[in-house]
Amino acid sequence: MILFKCQVCNYIHTGDEAPDKCPKCGAPKEKFVELNEEDTNKVARSEFTNGLHMELYNALQEVEDISEAGIEDDLDPGCVAIFNKAKEQAVLLKKMIVAELETHVKRNKWGVE
Ligand SMILES: [Fe+2]
Repeated sequence: MILFKCQVCNYIHTGDEAPDKCPKCGAPKEKFVELNEEDTNKVARSEFTNGLHMELYNALQEVEDISEAGIEDDLDPGCVAIFNKAKEQAVLLKKMIVAELETHVKRNKWGVE
């Protein structure tokens, strides 16, 4: 597996050679660079983990939505305190995931397919 990265938009292509044209931004073949072995391994290794992060992010989004409904429902102060706390933690963890994924992208630790 050889990975080629578009230097214009960072799209990663898998194949024996770079595509004639970037499917995402339309940049020509010359704009693609082959990732070295180390970066290729990082991409492959992190694919599963990044998927888990995205799954977790979606689950936390659900926690946030449920919490907001609970806050709005406003049955009593005990309930609202729990929903507020759940929302706060979900928002915090979502931000941490975004920050972590950003470092993955910068270090070429991003899945391809
Ligand atoms: Fe591109």
